[in-house]
Amino acid sequence: MAAELKKLSESRDLTRIERIGAHSHIRGLGLDSSFEPRLSSEGMVGQQPARKAAGIILQLIRDGNIAGRAVLLAGQPGTGKTAIAMGIAKSLGQETPFANVSASELFSLEISRTEALTQAFRKAIGVRIKEEAEIIEGEVVEIVIDRPASGSGGAGGGDSKSASKTGKLTMKTTDMETVYELGGKMIEALGKEKVQSGDVIALDKASGKVTKLGRSIGRSRDYDAMGPQTKFIRCPEGELQKRKEVVHCVTLHEIDVINSRTQGFLALFTGDTGEIRAEVREQIDSKVAEWREEGKADIIPGVLFIDEVHMLDIECFSFLNRALENEMAPILVIATNRGITTIRGTNYRSPHGIPADFLDRLLIISTQPYSEEEIGKILDIRCDEEDVEMSKDAKVLLTKIGVETSLRYAIHLITAAALACQKRKGKVVEMVDISRVYQLFLDVKRSTQYLMEYQNQYMFSEVPRETEGDEAMQS
Ligand SMILES: Nc1ncnc2c1ncn2[C@@H]1O[C@H](COP(=O)(O)OP(=O)(O)OP(=O)(O)O)[C@@H](O)[C@H]1O
Ligand SMILES: [Mg+2]
Repeated sequence: MAAELKKLSESRDLTRIERIGAHSHIRGLGLDSSFEPRLSSEGMVGQQPARKAAGIILQLIRDGNIAGRAVLLAGQPGTGKTAIAMGIAKSLGQETPFANVSASELFSLEISRTEALTQAFRKAIGVRIKEEAEIIEGEVVEIVIDRPASGSGGAGGGDSKSASKTGKLTMKTTDMETVYELGGKMIEALGKEKVQSGDVIALDKASGKVTKLGRSIGRSRDYDAMGPQTKFIRCPEGELQKRKEVVHCVTLHEIDVINSRTQGFLALFTGDTGEIRAEVREQIDSKVAEWREEGKADIIPGVLFIDEVHMLDIECFSFLNRALENEMAPILVIATNRGITTIRGTNYRSPHGIPADFLDRLLIISTQPYSEEEIGKILDIRCDEEDVEMSKDAKVLLTKIGVETSLRYAIHLITAAALACQKRKGKVVEMVDISRVYQLFLDVKRSTQYLMEYQNQYMFSEVPRETEGDEAMQS
């Protein structure tokens, strides 16, 4: 299993591809060293009280010794609740897991809701596993690869031949020098990493993995054609062979999946994990507890973020109540934009659609609508993020639109306006582009108005009752 876990923690880096998403401009909570929110920093603007409160939660998570706290982000649509949760996620170290689910997702999975929630909880609990590894670390003096002595074609050495290649690797530290015999696999690994003499490398004896640590300072003048990213380091001291502690971080869920099926490792990428049996989880819990006692592993409680939490039903809420009392529970962050509404699965109404007993366990952070200035700043940041150049008066107009309609609508107009600008072969987005896309795309208010006028030409349109019509207009 250890090998699989290692493979897993390495493959993580591969899956981190980022597109420009709704929150990609957010790089943190924008707090200073004493956890006070800066006016505008790390992509975050305004909303200071909420960000400050989120900062305190962040400290709580970093300390890592309080389990099962839950925080509710409550506020009107578009006031930055999801953005703040993303800010928390970005501020966490790489090791602290952040699991992100939307409550509505739970209802569309093939597995039961409580199973999905359990998986989400276990995705938010990290395990840091420490392992001793034998490592050879030093500066490469020379690599000699033998040509096959009795080969027919020396020049056309294909892949099949490289497997039978042998060679010698000379490595040194400041104190010693040793020659190692190389097998075909090792030669391939060295070739892949493009190891040359003068490189400082580490070889994992068990797995044969080669890591290039940098170039030796002593050899820095030999090659003047090095790329700017070349890192120069000192030639290591002492013994070549060292015992080193290697740490890899996985989540409980990942360990569950690896152990629940034979092809478990792949299931992590396809997401097709199915239900995981309770026995598997019990086994893993006791195994992890064992590791902890032996000092081989630590638990890192992370964060579970459930967006649109009003979509959960009464059964999920009572599950959450209990799950939070587990000593391995992560910090739960939930968000909703609902006011007083019915709790799903019941006929009762409650604030945010959350049952009173669960509400009572929550710390509530409320977000406020943005001022015109703040909207302007957020739009500025989004223009940068989307690489759109916009003239000053176009920005003023867009901000006005943002105030009149919604921040989201204004954000969406940026890309559209940039396309309109491209079409007229302009470089900078001007007011004309903004007003053009403002006419092309309706915001909610205008769309509603339009519907009210042409109601009867649509399918299933009911003749509006006076009061209902009023309600729709206000929201
Ligand atoms: N303080 C802020 N600084 C920078 N960008 C922000 C800020 N608040 C919100 N945004 C951006 O504005 C957009 C809307 O905000 P967000 O999605 O966080 O709203 P929300 O409160 O989650 O709304 P909803 O209740 O509808 O889910 C997002 O693109 C978000 O990144
Ligand atoms: Mg949201």
